[in-house]
Amino acid sequence: MQQSVSGFSKFSKAEKINWLISNYFNENSDAKSVLKSYWNSNEKLQQLHDEFIENTISNFYMPFGIAPNFLINGALYTLPMTIEESSVVAAASNAAKFWWSRGGFKTSVISTTKIGHVHFMFEGNSTILKSYFENIKPQLLESTKPLTKNMEKRGGGILDLKLVDCTKKMSHYFQLETTFETKDAMGANFINSCLEQIASTFETLTQNSNALKGYQPKIVMSILSNYVPECLVRAEVSCRVDELTLDGHFSGEEFAEKFMQAVRIAEVEPYRAVTHNKGIMNGVDAVVIATGNDFRAVEAGVHAYAAKDGHYASLSHASLDNGIFKFWMDIPLALGTVGGLTGLHPMVKLALEMLGKPSAPQLMEIVAVAGLAQNFAALRSLTTTGIQKGHMKMHLLNILNQIGANTTEKEQLVQHFKTNSVSHRAVVDALKNLRD
Ligand code: HMG
Repeated sequence: MQQSVSGFSKFSKAEKINWLISNYFNENSDAKSVLKSYWNSNEKLQQLHDEFIENTISNFYMPFGIAPNFLINGALYTLPMTIEESSVVAAASNAAKFWWSRGGFKTSVISTTKIGHVHFMFEGNSTILKSYFENIKPQLLESTKPLTKNMEKRGGGILDLKLVDCTKKMSHYFQLETTFETKDAMGANFINSCLEQIASTFETLTQNSNALKGYQPKIVMSILSNYVPECLVRAEVSCRVDELTLDGHFSGEEFAEKFMQAVRIAEVEPYRAVTHNKGIMNGVDAVVIATGNDFRAVEAGVHAYAAKDGHYASLSHASLDNGIFKFWMDIPLALGTVGGLTGLHPMVKLALEMLGKPSAPQLMEIVAVAGLAQNFAALRSLTTTGIQKGHMKMHLLNILNQIGANTTEKEQLVQHFKTNSVSHRAVVDALKNLRD
């Protein structure tokens, strides 16, 4: 059985690799050369990547694609997309092209505030705690001033601090709920530092006071929330219904009706809503990752928002009123365009530069559009040709690579599949025929 290892974090990179190889691979394995083949020959760049995380032994590439023709509030963008799944960039590009000639995407930032909590337990009288909290609130806020000074200069800072009684959810449970504006920063470090300061001041003040009649609040933890329903952006598209006509196969009305039924199903049926929203996240995550933002935080917050009405539902909605088809989505996105990886990762810097160095609210708009575009493309395929036709067309090269086709064979088979439908079996057979 594998032995545990002590002091591993102190090993050199070479020692870590040797440890891994000797414990998990046999001597003939090419694991070491695979790991090394992903090292960057530019040593400075490699060191930068090594230091992003801990115990780094190699890099893990993701493709960086671009999707042009995104008309957003009248300005044209090319979106950077980092994703491993075929057909996502094509779908985004396809939807962008479709809506480019129909007025493009419109967006609006609804709100930009974030929330964090000092979670604590208190067994005393809640009315006394409430009035005590109001008395010490100015001191709690004052203690964060060294931390909030620079953020305030940028127009952000702490917007509100309140005591929340959560004892109906859990005995003795209270929160100091703090609302923040973090401008162009995602703000996680800023928020957590402020919360820890508030917690520490709260602890000191309560320890030295008799006002709580001998009951001492006990801090459990201080942390921001990745649920950000007040950091919300709307993206939408609309056009006359007759402009939705698809390749002469569907009238605009037929397409709109089927499309709205598909959206409605995702609004009422969680099994469908999860897949529907996954399609949205194809676009959202790809731009979030390319711009160096925290996709786990975004994912967690978005899915919580999708369940805000008590059941998991579609994030997007569609309507047809007075001959106007409209498709829209409100999505919570806590993003940053300064701090974190944004100033460190060369590809992230490049991605932000190609977007015109957006502010955080502008990036929220762009990311929401990527999600809506992706959802539109997927629903359009699902309700017309079916998803597999386009998806497998894009997946063809992956299948060819997987089954070992060489460059000439790939070229010939890509031609062949321009007029034949793609499936794994069909590609294997076609390669076999070609070789025979
Ligand atoms: P098509 O109509 O066959 O494409 O669509 P086309 O060859 O006629 O080209 C039209 C445009 O599509 C191009 O314009 C590009 O914008 C784009 P052009 O550049 O020629 O002026 N496009 C491409 N862009 C880059 N590289 C390419 C490429 N090909 C076309 N190779 C397409 C083909 C795949 C776009 C379409 O069928 C589609 O949008 N399908 C949806 C695919 C999709 O949603 N994929 C996500 C993965 S599936 C999934 O995870 C989510 C899902 O489960 C969510 C849900 O259930 O809701 C489906």
